[in-house]
Amino acid sequence: MIEAPDTIQRIEKDAKAQLEAVQTAGDLEAWRVSYLGRKGAVPLFLRGVKDLPLDQRAHAGAAANALREELEAAFGRKQNELGGETTHEDPIGKYREGGEGHLHPLTLAIRRISNILSAMGFLIVEGPEVEEAQYNFDLLNIPLEHSARKEQDTFYLSSHPELVLRTHTSPVQVRAVLERNIVPPFRIASPGRVFRAERTDATHESTFHQFEVLSVGENVTIADFKGTVETFYSAYFQSDVTIRLRPSYFPFVEPGFEIDMSCVFCQQKGCRICKHTGWVEVMGAGMVHPNVLRNMNVNPEKYQGFAFGGAVDRLVMLQHGIYDIRLLWSGDFRFLKQFS
Ligand code: PHE
Repeated sequence: MIEAPDTIQRIEKDAKAQLEAVQTAGDLEAWRVSYLGRKGAVPLFLRGVKDLPLDQRAHAGAAANALREELEAAFGRKQNELGGETTHEDPIGKYREGGEGHLHPLTLAIRRISNILSAMGFLIVEGPEVEEAQYNFDLLNIPLEHSARKEQDTFYLSSHPELVLRTHTSPVQVRAVLERNIVPPFRIASPGRVFRAERTDATHESTFHQFEVLSVGENVTIADFKGTVETFYSAYFQSDVTIRLRPSYFPFVEPGFEIDMSCVFCQQKGCRICKHTGWVEVMGAGMVHPNVLRNMNVNPEKYQGFAFGGAVDRLVMLQHGIYDIRLLWSGDFRFLKQFS
């Protein structure tokens, strides 16, 4: 039998002390499992709350939820700290031709996106680029006969018909929740590379990047969604951004939207980037479809949430005024050197 409030304080003390000692990504994952995993100390405590005397329940539940949020944020910070190590020796040093290199603008953007989202309480997770068709389609409510499946212009692997190069980051939604035994409420985000068998032009590339964001809880609404997206883009562009929602269709959400953000370059006065409309299209989004929640082992009668898939390459193009997406993937130093 779990006792409050003594136990939650002890969990907090232990968790914080142990996190201090974490040195590697492996340590960090072990720490997460023991405090935040399905059988971790905090979820266990939360499950025990219902057995407490009535007058203690609200307080114990709130304290445990607050601790969980705090530990998730601390986890995100530690994850960044460990992943952000850039100190390594340069064996070529001054003999290097053409001077020092720097990170690719897409890498910089992905780091910036991850930092902002992790500061907003989202756990950053990754998924495979070669994905099971199950996760890319079926578990997202896109059955074999569904027309959306053809629209995706998918790269299949001829030797393994059950595998695809993922066409979007959405498969990470179900995969991460199942693999990590995550239980609601939760917030996760996942940046990464995606592929479509497209004919390339200035705005289409067969390899590009998205970031998936998923928030599920008892009272997560479209208002939360709008606030999250505006906060995110405002932080990214360091400028007050508003968004507008247009109805759209994706099988894994209901309702679904296409999101436009206010043009940060002309403050909506009209410019080349927003094609004089004041708005630029930046993502697909919606409220997570009940079938998809079920596929995550989440009860849609109790929980709801939002999801969006933002375009990374598009952000980088907007940020730097790049007019041709293919430049980002070209490896041309004359282009890349401008974005150190
Ligand atoms: N996965 C969709 C795409 O690739 C975007 C999206 C993500 C839409 C999440 C709704 C919810 O275009």
